[in-house]
Amino acid sequence: MRKQIAAANWKMNLTLEEANELLNKIVAENIELSHGQEAVFAVPFPYLLLANETIKNTKGFYTAAQNCYLKESGAYTGEVSPSMLVSCGVPYVIIGHSERREYFNENNFILSQKIDICLKNNLKPIFCCGEPLAVRESETQNNYVETQLKESLLHLDASEVENFVIAYEPIWAIGTGRTATAGQAQEMHEHIRKVFAEKYGDDVAQSISILYGGSVKAANAREIFGKKDVDGGLVGGASLNAAEFSEIIRSLKK
Ligand code: PGA
Repeated sequence: MRKQIAAANWKMNLTLEEANELLNKIVAENIELSHGQEAVFAVPFPYLLLANETIKNTKGFYTAAQNCYLKESGAYTGEVSPSMLVSCGVPYVIIGHSERREYFNENNFILSQKIDICLKNNLKPIFCCGEPLAVRESETQNNYVETQLKESLLHLDASEVENFVIAYEPIWAIGTGRTATAGQAQEMHEHIRKVFAEKYGDDVAQSISILYGGSVKAANAREIFGKKDVDGGLVGGASLNAAEFSEIIRSLKK
């Protein structure tokens, strides 16, 4: 059974005090996750250790970094390596968010190197893919996303992609309030699973969790997560509100 995951992406928001308050409020909700369900909190680097401490007694809650560098260590001022994150008890990292691609010039090749070093260090990537509006309007989104997967992931062995986490985030739906319909999400998720099935076989493809991201909120989470190939969400704006995100966690499929 593949995992169902509600992942919060706080991006570059909140002071330490605000972060602490938000996470404590969500923990206080005492959400009971079933086996195979997870809530993941991608918090800014300086808050990771504190977040780990806050969630340590909550079953199914984990932290994630929002990025990491593609080298093991060395003279790369300002960067953070996968092994540093692992040594801080961080199990996940978001790789290839569209904001990293757009503002920090991270291309598919750079991301493939990040994926490799994460896997080498047993840091689990949440790999983001998704098309811009012009691509959606020209109805070429399937090819666009397929290329992202091919150039960053499909060099991996089957054992490495088993239990992988992908986040499909159409760029036109991120932070815009314009969500893909549940049908559009399902269609793309099915396509992504097919791309993996063609390369690695159906068993591996079925083991991969594919999250939807882009204006997910409490009001639409249940419908989107209810689709067959949607295994939860990567949530930006709505993850900064304790009541909203708690409801989103409760909307995961059992
Ligand atoms: P949003 O962001 O939920 O604010 O649209 C999603 C994301 O960027 O991961």
